[in-house]
Amino acid sequence: MKSTNVVWHDSKVAKAERQKLKDHKSPVLWFTGLSGSGKSTLSVEVEKALYELGIHTYRLDGDNVRHGLNKNLGFSPEDRTENIRRIGEVGKLMNDAGLVTLTAFISPYREDRDQARKLFEDGDFIEVYTKCSLDEAENRDPKGLYKKARAGEIKGFTGIDAPYEEPKDAEITVETDKLSLEDSVREVIDYLKFNQYI
Ligand code: PPS
Repeated sequence: MKSTNVVWHDSKVAKAERQKLKDHKSPVLWFTGLSGSGKSTLSVEVEKALYELGIHTYRLDGDNVRHGLNKNLGFSPEDRTENIRRIGEVGKLMNDAGLVTLTAFISPYREDRDQARKLFEDGDFIEVYTKCSLDEAENRDPKGLYKKARAGEIKGFTGIDAPYEEPKDAEITVETDKLSLEDSVREVIDYLKFNQYI
């Protein structure tokens, strides 16, 4: 259902002023990749590193958000699209609030990620691809979900019987099956420093 009769109400404090107060920009770091590719692990460590640099952050994680805001969504293509649409909108609010946001969602469809990107001003959406071979992700299988998917106990599991569309132009690609966690964190932080986000 579309909202009708709603009018945008401006604030007297703008994004740029909130950013100035915090002395850093407020991009969203959009982690995308297979289950087990290291999105959550890496985003947790990047957030910690940012915190230690005095940066205001907030992290949104697929598993966590699906316990609350998105608990009415499953894993059909339509529900995944809605999941990502909502996270894009929440990320946009955080962007406006002046926080560096880290989102960790499989976000398997390129079109959904591109739609999320369109919500942001140029440079405010940073796609971070946690690139990891399916073999390695399946080897790690931290939650035993690949095993269940192979056994047919989970249907529509990403990488097994549901697609993952690799990013073509991610700002950052971290090869989590080749790099140490420490080097992976450094890659993200260096990007943010080099491009003067922080
Ligand atoms: S999506 O595709 O972006 O909407 O998924 P997301 O919100 O990131 O949720 C992924 C986590 O849900 C668990 N899970 C599944 N993943 C993929 N496919 C299926 N069918 C599925 N069912 C449950 C799984 O723990 C994912 O967590 P990560 O951290 O990615 O391993």
